Amino acid sequence: MVETIQWTTQGVVMLDQTRLPRETVFVTCRDYREVAQAIRGMVIRGAPAIGVAAAMGMALGAAGADPASLDAEMDHAAETLAATRPTAVNLFWAIERMKELYGRLRGRPVEEIRAALEAEAREMYRQDIAINQAMGRHGAGLVPDGKTVLTHCNAGALATAGFGTALGVIRAAVAAGKKIDVFAGETRPFLQGARLTAWELMQDGIPTTLITDNMAGHFLKSGRIGCVIVGADRIAGNGDVANKIGTYSVAVLARENGVPFYVAAPISTLDLSLASGDAIPIEQRPAAEVTHLFGVAVAPEGVAVENPAFDVTPARYVSAIVTERGVARAPYSESLRKLVVG
Ligand code: MRU
Repeated sequence: MVETIQWTTQGVVMLDQTRLPRETVFVTCRDYREVAQAIRGMVIRGAPAIGVAAAMGMALGAAGADPASLDAEMDHAAETLAATRPTAVNLFWAIERMKELYGRLRGRPVEEIRAALEAEAREMYRQDIAINQAMGRHGAGLVPDGKTVLTHCNAGALATAGFGTALGVIRAAVAAGKKIDVFAGETRPFLQGARLTAWELMQDGIPTTLITDNMAGHFLKSGRIGCVIVGADRIAGNGDVANKIGTYSVAVLARENGVPFYVAAPISTLDLSLASGDAIPIEQRPAAEVTHLFGVAVAPEGVAVENPAFDVTPARYVSAIVTERGVARAPYSESLRKLVVG
C-alpha cells in the first residue's frame, strides 16, 4: 500500500502527487507553511488526505513556537492552512478539531500541548484508514459481480491516509471475491484518473482501463458498466455532492442509462450546515492547467479559460452515499442526519 503521508521526526513526509506516475518522490514539510504550500500545490490532494495533512500542519504549528507566541502561531497556522483550498470541507473539519483540542489545553506546559497535538494528528491518520475500511465493508455489497466499475478522479489511498473511499469500496469488493474491473476517467485537466487512479489500481493488480472523460457516455450506454463510484469533497445537507469537475456529467449519463451512481465519503465530508450544494464554494484553479500539458501549450496564447476544480451533482442523481456508519439513501436530508446523530 502506498504511503500518502506520514508523521516522522523529520517532519510531515508526503508522496509528491504532482510527479506521479513518472517519479516516486517524497517531500518533507518542516513547518505548517510548507504543509500549506504542499496542499495548495497539489503535492497532496483528495479531501481526507488534505484533512490529515492540515491536522499534521497544526501539530507542526505548535512544534515550532515558543511559549509566548504559541497562541498567535496556532491562530496563524489555522488561517494559513484554511486559505489553501476552499471546497473540501475535511480541511476545515480537521483544523477545527485541532483548534478545539488546543483550546482545551491552553495554559498547560508547552511540551504537553505539543505532544497532545501530535498524538491527535497521528490518531486522525489512523482513524482515516479505519474509516475507509469500514466504508469498504458497507459498500462492497453494492458493487455488481462480473461487471465494470467506472470511477472519476482519484478517491483512493492517495486521496486519503490509506485504502481510499471509492477505491476502498472497490478494494473491499475485490477482497470479497468479486470479479470486477475498473474504468478510470482520466480527469482533465489535472489528470488524477490517468496519473493516480490507474497507477494505484495497477499496483494492486486490479484490472484497470483508462478512458478519456468524453468516453464516459459511450461506455455507460454500452451495458458494460455495472455502477459508478466516486468520492466527494463536500456533501450538503440535502445530499448534493461536490466532487471533481466532470462528476456531474457522469452522474447524469449514469441516470440516463440506468446505471447506479454511488458516492463514498466519510462523515467528515458532510456539511449539514449547508441546505444545498448551491452554497458549496467551488475552487477556481489556474488557466495554465487547461492551456498547457506538462508545460507544453495545447491552446492558442491568450484564449479565455474557465477552470472550476469541482462541480455539484444534485442529490437526485445519487443512488446511495456510502459512509463508515452505513449507507444513506434518499431522502438524504433525513438519512444523512440520522447517520450523524447516530
Ligand atoms: O483536486 P483534488 O485532486 O483534490 O480533487 C479530489 C477529488 O475530487 C476526490 O474525488 C475527492 O476529494 C474525494 S477523495 C477520497
